[in-house]
Amino acid sequence: MELHDSSLWRFLLVNVIYERCLSVGVAAMDAQHKTLVAMINKLIRNATATTQSATIQEVFMEMKDYMAMHFHAEEELMTAHNYPQLGEQIALHRRFSDKIIRFCIEWAYHNEHLPDDMLTYLREWLVHHILEEDKKYGAFFHEHGVQ
Ligand SMILES: [Fe+2]
Repeated sequence: MELHDSSLWRFLLVNVIYERCLSVGVAAMDAQHKTLVAMINKLIRNATATTQSATIQEVFMEMKDYMAMHFHAEEELMTAHNYPQLGEQIALHRRFSDKIIRFCIEWAYHNEHLPDDMLTYLREWLVHHILEEDKKYGAFFHEHGVQ
């Protein structure tokens, strides 16, 4: 089975990677990341639905709002503790949000299936975001008494 096989990815995202590897060590952020993983998995599970399906539109709306809340929570925590890479994080968060809005505009009003490149982008972005960017703040926050 290829690493990028979608069923393997789904299994890893839901069952293994999150529990064992994706924890950034800050409980509130772990809980939010877990919700984001669940939303992206819901899209993956419904990949054959059209973008006009109620489920897909619901998940997109939920994801857009939840992502904004999550980024805001991270940025607030970073600001409160003078996290040195705050600027970088803000730039990454904005870039991702813009990309999602572009995906929505491109696909949401067309009666088409969710494109593979969007699903790939979402899951790879999420894993990259947590494993590479957010993992960096775990140790920093621990030093500042945030668990
Ligand atoms: Fe995050």
